[in-house]
Amino acid sequence: MADTSDDTRSTFPAGFLWGCATAAYQIEGSPLADGAGVSNWHRFAHTPGMVHAGDTGDVACDHYNRWREDVALMRSLGMRGYRFSINWSRVLPEGRGRVNPEGLAFYDRLVDALLENGIQPMATLFHWDLPAALDDRGGWLNPDIAGWFAEYARVVFRKLDDRVGLWATLNEPWVVTDGGYLHGVLAPGHRSRYEPPIAAHHLLRAHGAAVQAYRAEGRNNIGIVVNIEPKYPASQNPEDLAATARADAYMNRQFLDPVFLGRYPGEMREVFGNAWPEWPAEDMLLIRQAIDFVGINYYTRSVTRHDARRWPVHGSGVPQKHATRTETGWEVYPQGLTDVLKWVSARYGQPPIYVTENGAAFYDPPSAIEGRVEDPLRVAYLREHLRAAHAALRQGVDLRGYFLWSLLDNFEWALGYAKRFGIVHVDYATQQRTPKDSARFYAEVIATQGAALGVNA
Ligand code: BGC
Repeated sequence: MADTSDDTRSTFPAGFLWGCATAAYQIEGSPLADGAGVSNWHRFAHTPGMVHAGDTGDVACDHYNRWREDVALMRSLGMRGYRFSINWSRVLPEGRGRVNPEGLAFYDRLVDALLENGIQPMATLFHWDLPAALDDRGGWLNPDIAGWFAEYARVVFRKLDDRVGLWATLNEPWVVTDGGYLHGVLAPGHRSRYEPPIAAHHLLRAHGAAVQAYRAEGRNNIGIVVNIEPKYPASQNPEDLAATARADAYMNRQFLDPVFLGRYPGEMREVFGNAWPEWPAEDMLLIRQAIDFVGINYYTRSVTRHDARRWPVHGSGVPQKHATRTETGWEVYPQGLTDVLKWVSARYGQPPIYVTENGAAFYDPPSAIEGRVEDPLRVAYLREHLRAAHAALRQGVDLRGYFLWSLLDNFEWALGYAKRFGIVHVDYATQQRTPKDSARFYAEVIATQGAALGVNA
């Protein structure tokens, strides 16, 4: 029988939240302004050899001073939502105790400006910049951090929850543990085989404690943001299948299983061996708080094979011939977005989902030419991934919105300013912003509620 419901299903639902995402340390600059404390990312970036070309977030996109202009820019592109993060050290310079009203006032003004421009804020409480004073006490390795995080979260909720409708506790805890505690390429720069599971557990406890604090007085929605990279086996050989399962447990299930199911994946013991600790049952209860949505960051996939030399999962990715790769070396694989959205929905009981990040670094012309920056590969990336998101919606996923990474070219962590993810070009010498072709394309997608994607075809 012919499907006559196509008209209503062919574009995105009314109320779908179209937006873009950024993070404090990557765009704000002025890290020590108005009484802010030092963050571990400030310290890390100022440690010689840790960031490409010695780049730091000292100036970044100068968003701390140009936020009005940036909000106007979002409005001109038709954004309906904006996901930003709060720098904990601006609010609590020592990480706990004394509140810095001026730091809080920055986010207060930003939220007001967003709402005045019809843009719904989604605030992330922790996008990797931890107060250095807390790092000095062990950071994510110290069990007390769950309480410190809840204390900070409460201060922010009390100030902004009357206007912020969507809260994310943590951004990509897996990357914090893998980059920050295992490989040492992100702050705090540790290289340890034992620390990653401990940091992961306390990140999760902190998430649970913040959700608990929110339930006591918050009125809106709270969730967590994780990066999911689907793992496909390189062959049906049992060794490759087992490596794929371990890689998937380590990266994709280590965080969502405890949050939704109250337990760690069985493979974690195999992955970490004697570095995998036993945790008390009450911790798992704290972690398993009901949340209102889950945020998924999707960039690429991995085709995985057994590789005994690669710790901790004993598996590695097999480069795909003929695949398009981004400037960060990531395979462009839009189908993976449909797959992860369906997988998260099916495994975790069909929670409301937002794509909280998706985007690509490609080589862009070094500067605007006659006011234009052509970025055809990014336009193609967006078109294909938005179509993939739409396919998931059509197949029943409760997808509520899509936040593109990123509004602006910005400080790409250890890669400094060398990689550009923005749909708006930033000339770092002048701070001139120029919307790239991808920004115009995205604006058209938003204005047509997705029809510009040609998903009817
Ligand atoms: C992070 C962003 C980062 C982006 C691109 C995500 O892992 O949340 O902060 O810039 O990916 O690497």
